[in-house]
Amino acid sequence: MDGLLASANHFIKENQPDVDYRWYPRFHLAAPVGWMNDPNGLTWFNGYFHAFYQHYPYAAEWGPMHWGHARSRDMIRWEHLPVALAPEGPEDKDGCFSGSAVVEGEILSLIYTGHKFHGQPVDENLYQVQCLATSRDGVTFRREGQVLDTPAGAHHFRDPKVWREDNGWYMVVGTKVNDTGEILIYRSDDLRHWQHESAIRGTDICDGYMWECPDLFPLGDKQILMFSPQGVNADGDHYRNLFQSGYVVGNWQPGMPFTPQHAFQELDHGHDFYAPQSFTTPDGRRVIIGWLAMWESPMPEKADGWAGMLTLPRELTLSETGRVRQVPVKEIETLRTERLEWQPGELFQQNLPLMDDAQALEVLLEWDISRSMAEQYGICLGAGARIFIDNQTRRIVLERNYPTLNVSGYRSVPLPEGERLNLRLFIDKSSLELFVNEGEYTLSSRIYPAENDRQLSLFCHHGNAVVHECSAWQLAY
Ligand code: FRU
Repeated sequence: MDGLLASANHFIKENQPDVDYRWYPRFHLAAPVGWMNDPNGLTWFNGYFHAFYQHYPYAAEWGPMHWGHARSRDMIRWEHLPVALAPEGPEDKDGCFSGSAVVEGEILSLIYTGHKFHGQPVDENLYQVQCLATSRDGVTFRREGQVLDTPAGAHHFRDPKVWREDNGWYMVVGTKVNDTGEILIYRSDDLRHWQHESAIRGTDICDGYMWECPDLFPLGDKQILMFSPQGVNADGDHYRNLFQSGYVVGNWQPGMPFTPQHAFQELDHGHDFYAPQSFTTPDGRRVIIGWLAMWESPMPEKADGWAGMLTLPRELTLSETGRVRQVPVKEIETLRTERLEWQPGELFQQNLPLMDDAQALEVLLEWDISRSMAEQYGICLGAGARIFIDNQTRRIVLERNYPTLNVSGYRSVPLPEGERLNLRLFIDKSSLELFVNEGEYTLSSRIYPAENDRQLSLFCHHGNAVVHECSAWQLAY
C-alpha cells in the first residue's frame, strides 16, 4: 500500500534539482517541488515543530492531495521530510484534504479529510469523511481509515481541527448547509468515535456558502473562532480576495454552543493569505501559520516548478477592543545577521536609495505621521512593490505592479491614530509581510521582482515626511 507514497518521494528527489530558485523563499516554508496550499497538522512533537501541508508533488498545480511534511526546532528553519500521506485508501482516494494533529503520550495523530467521489467527480457524488493516521516516530504514519462519516444530506464536510479539553477531544469541521457556511463541533474520548455536540451557523456572524478550515481556541479570556469563508462579496476595502480568512471573538465551553461577541473580522489585509491554522508552542504561545497565496491567483513561480508558500509563524494576542494582534514569533530574530541603519531624518519630495539588492530582509521604519504632510510617502522595492502612507485617503497601502505577470493592484488598511507609525516589513524572494504597529494590522502579498529589480528606497511625493527610525537586518540561514 505504500506505492503512492514511495512514488511521490521518488518524484520529489528526482525533480527537485530542476526547480528554479529565483523566487523561492529563503526563510519561509515552501514545497521542495510542486504545489502547496493549506498548512496542516501544525504541532510540537518529540522536540520538533511539525508542519504538514496540502501538497501535489507532480506539478505546480493543485491535484490529488498528499500531505507534505517538514519539521523544525524553531518554527523558522525547516527540514523537509518524506511525504506523510498519499490518497491511497478507499476513504481518501481522491485526496487527503486539510486537517490537524494532536499528541497523546508517545503518539502523533493526524486527523484529516478523506475526499472521494462515488462515481463521476461532481458535487452530488462528493463525500468527505474524517480519517485518522498515527505515528510513533513522527515520520512514518499508519493509516487507521475513516473515523467519522459524512453527515446525512451533506457533501462538503472538511478540515477537522482537533484539540484536547476537559478530559476529552474536541473537533470543529467546516460544512455547507443549503449553500450557507456552518461549523460542526464534535467530541470524542479516543479520537476514533465522535459524537456531534453543536453547530455554529452562517449568516448571523458571517456570510459565505462554505466555511473552510475552522479553528476554535482560547485567547485571553475569550474564544476565537477562526475560519476561511468562501463566497463573501467584496465590500469597499474589505473582502477583496477571492476567499477570506478571519475570526469571530466569542465564548464557548464544552457542552455549550458558541456565542459570538463581535462581528467577523479579517485577519490579514494583503492579497495572499488563506487557511490559517493555530497551534500552541511548548511555552504556551498561540501561533498561526497561513498559506501565503490565494486560490486562482497567477502564481508566476509555477513556471519554476513550484507554487505556494506559507507565512511566517505569528504569535497572537487579543487587544482590549477585541481585535486579534499578530506578531512574528520571536525566533525570527535568530536569523538576523548584519544590521543596517540609515538616518534620513526628514524627506522632502525625493527618492532616497537605501540599498541595492534586498533579498531576505527585515525592515524597521518609524514615521512621524503627525509631522509628515506629503501626499504619499513610504518605501519601495524596485519598480514593482511599494508600501506607503496615502495622506489623501489616510490609509496604509501595499501596492504591487508586475503587469507582464498579471500581478497588480493594491490593498490598504486605515492609518491608525497617533503620532508615530511603526512598520515592520519582512522581504523574502517573492513575498512581503507587513506588520503595522506591533501587529494591529498585517498585510501579506506575493511579489515577483526581476533579479535586478530589488533596490530598496524611501520616497516622498508632494511635501515632507519625517522618519524617526529606518533600519534593517539581513536575514540568513
Ligand atoms: C482550503 C481547502 C480546504 C481543503 C483543501 C484542499 O484552501 O480548500 O478546504 O481541505 O484546501 O486542498
